[in-house]
Amino acid sequence: MTEPEGGAIDQVVAAVSHSAKYRRVSLDLIRAIAEQELAAHRKEKDAVKAVKNRLHQVCGAFFIGEPRYATWLQAIEHAVQQGEPVALRAACGEAMLKHTSTRERLPIIERFYGELVEGLAPDSHILDIGCGLNPLAIPWMRLPERVSYTCYDIDAGLIDFLNAYFAAMGISGHAELRNVVTDPPHAPASLALVLKVLPTLDQIQRDAGAALLRGLAAPRMLVSFPAHSLGGVQKGMAATYSARFLALADSERWQVRQITFASEIAFLVTR
Ligand SMILES: C[S@@+](CC[C@H](N)C(=O)[O-])C[C@H]1O[C@@H](n2cnc3c(N)ncnc32)[C@H](O)[C@@H]1O
Repeated sequence: MTEPEGGAIDQVVAAVSHSAKYRRVSLDLIRAIAEQELAAHRKEKDAVKAVKNRLHQVCGAFFIGEPRYATWLQAIEHAVQQGEPVALRAACGEAMLKHTSTRERLPIIERFYGELVEGLAPDSHILDIGCGLNPLAIPWMRLPERVSYTCYDIDAGLIDFLNAYFAAMGISGHAELRNVVTDPPHAPASLALVLKVLPTLDQIQRDAGAALLRGLAAPRMLVSFPAHSLGGVQKGMAATYSARFLALADSERWQVRQITFASEIAFLVTR
């Protein structure tokens, strides 16, 4: 394996970022994956194909159909104007059905947030790492007064939508385009949500998930793993993720409370 040249990397990044599917994905993430794939493939064409395959696993496979951000935002704004909590949950839930992670969480969402995001004080700050559409679950979170919310993901279209959503909701929220593998957040927070994202980060770089958790400046973290793979196959994956996470928590002396749902295994960490 030889070190990839700068010019070749630029060309692979340009080819991938000009494709319709990945044109709004963080260039930082595309570059990081391009460097790895160019080291493994001699021909640029093969590297471009390999980068697209990797991106599909990391961020392209979660949405069910094209995201309809304008329609979702309009419905949410309308529900906010009505001032009706049931209508707001319905509008957010409609959008959440179109992303695999939130779709699976919806049937358990009352219990999930009821049991896991309790006891936050006013003025708390929440981080949501690799958030997908999870910020749309805020109407279920029973948050105290004056909470602020920062979330990160690697798709600019999603980030624009989430910023418009926070504005519509009147929430002090900020969505940021950020590859948390190369640029992990270190700002202090009351609670960090790290939901179903660690296996994805480990696909980008080995042990990136553990490094991210160690570096977070949050006394509480809610970490979760999918109970099954995207295709619905079990393969003992959940047990492997849980065992690895518990070994990390043990070595860091974190206190962990585990709650197992049908679709998701959650760990509430205190440190
Ligand atoms: C399985 S989804 C989980 C979404 C959300 N946390 C949830 O549970 O509803 C993984 C998310 O992580 C995002 N992601 C993947 N790699 C990332 C990276 N390097 N930095 C930030 N976000 C990333 C993907 O775009 C996707 O939205």
